[in-house]
Amino acid sequence: MLKTLANSCVFLSIFLAGIVYYVCFYITCSDNVARDFPPQQPLQGVAPIQENSLQDIIQILDDAEGECHWDEGDWVWDESYPLYESRNCEFLDQAFRCSENGRPNNSYSKWRWQPKNCNIPRFDAVTMLEKLRNRRLVFVGDSMGRNQWQSLLCMLSSAIAEKDSIYEVNGNKITKHTGFLIFKFKSYNCTVEYYRSPFLVMQGQLPSGAPEKVEMLLKLDVMDSSFVQWRDADILIFNTGYWWNHCKIKKRGCYFQIGDNVKTDMSIESAYRKSIETLFLWLSKEVNSSKTVIFRTYAPAHYRDRESVRHCHLKMKPEISSSLMLSSPSWAYLMNPIIELPSAIDSELFSWEIMNVTQMTALRPDGHPSIYYLGATAGPAPLKEQDCRHWCLPGIPDAWNELLYARILTGYLL
Ligand SMILES: *[C@@H]1O[C@H](CO)[C@@H](O)[C@H](O)[C@H]1NC(C)=O
Ligand SMILES: *[C@@H]1O[C@H](CO)[C@@H](O)[C@H](O)[C@H]1NC(C)=O
Ligand SMILES: *[C@@H]1O[C@H](CO)[C@@H](O)[C@H](O)[C@H]1NC(C)=O
Ligand SMILES: *[C@@H]1O[C@H](CO)[C@@H](O)[C@H](O)[C@H]1NC(C)=O
Repeated sequence: MLKTLANSCVFLSIFLAGIVYYVCFYITCSDNVARDFPPQQPLQGVAPIQENSLQDIIQILDDAEGECHWDEGDWVWDESYPLYESRNCEFLDQAFRCSENGRPNNSYSKWRWQPKNCNIPRFDAVTMLEKLRNRRLVFVGDSMGRNQWQSLLCMLSSAIAEKDSIYEVNGNKITKHTGFLIFKFKSYNCTVEYYRSPFLVMQGQLPSGAPEKVEMLLKLDVMDSSFVQWRDADILIFNTGYWWNHCKIKKRGCYFQIGDNVKTDMSIESAYRKSIETLFLWLSKEVNSSKTVIFRTYAPAHYRDRESVRHCHLKMKPEISSSLMLSSPSWAYLMNPIIELPSAIDSELFSWEIMNVTQMTALRPDGHPSIYYLGATAGPAPLKEQDCRHWCLPGIPDAWNELLYARILTGYLL
């Protein structure tokens, strides 16, 4: 009895300390425009604390004790993972079903992300669905965004017994060729949506008389026209990166346009920066500041530098964080505009968050489909045609979604 009482006291004081900490933080930091992830502001309009998440509360309050950066840490072995099995989830592309496609060892799905100085709560689908009740959560980006979106569909649907209460609102099947897909969780009246937009800005029509080698025109100062469909979502998660590289742009004959001018000599770096600026300017004007806007950073691939070594199928384990070169120049151009531009954009209302997964993801060369993306009957792909870009599911994107969960729970809590 006494012990219980003492425990309650300890808990209460941790709890109060957390509130005091939060209030101070809120006052000092709430005017930051570009916020770190996790942020210091609550998710707008969410329900108050409930009894059943005491464990989560304690874990999150731990965060307040030290310097907690969710983006620094290590992957730790945890037998209680993965959070779901791909064979029980109907929302996955065949290409992400590595186990079912013949990958012999599922150890890649048994690592949990452990931030350096704090804990994040284990994902709980029912709690997350409660948070999403009557809301729209939208992913906009390239196929790594699709990877994360499908991961979240599997994580959430694991809590739902009647699978047919989850459906695509237009009756579309999950295929790579659909530009957007909107899944509704009927009992929670929420949707989890994906819009394909690899550059985030608009892909323009080629002018008549354009040289033959020009295959694509990107209008760097205009948002992708799909925005009318997602601008009113409650939670927006953007990503881009992969397509902004030489291979995908110049080799395909892709040119940039600003206003009416075709910029034939513009570098990919400048074009990418311009497109991120367009995104932020647009968000600051068009998206109500009461919405939650998250930019998930670049998820690195694990092809080797030299074209001749294009494999990852021998990788079986995560790297240790200290072993990794953190400031890889090949990511710097993708990261810098995301840090620098928002503070240059003058808007008091607009706020957004960076979900920085670049480094934690770089540590996981073992997480890719490699040769196991073709389906069970087709068997493994030839060694020289590996996918070291996307992620097996269950797998690394589940950890990004656990960060998202922690973010949403924190907002709800504080
Ligand atoms: C992301 O996290 C890594 C590791 O903590 C850090 O080195 C990098 O500067 C961060 N980048 C951004 C954009 O926050
Ligand atoms: C369902 O959610 C939408 C917002 O996404 C809301 O407009 C609508 O009123 C909700 N319906 C019910 C029955 O609560
Ligand atoms: C933004 O959202 C708030 C709260 O939902 C609402 O009161 C306000 O009218 C909205 N502002 C605009 C410009 O739509
Ligand atoms: C699976 O891979 C891990 C990591 O390399 C290894 O420790 C383990 O022995 C492997 N398990 C099997 C059954 O091969």
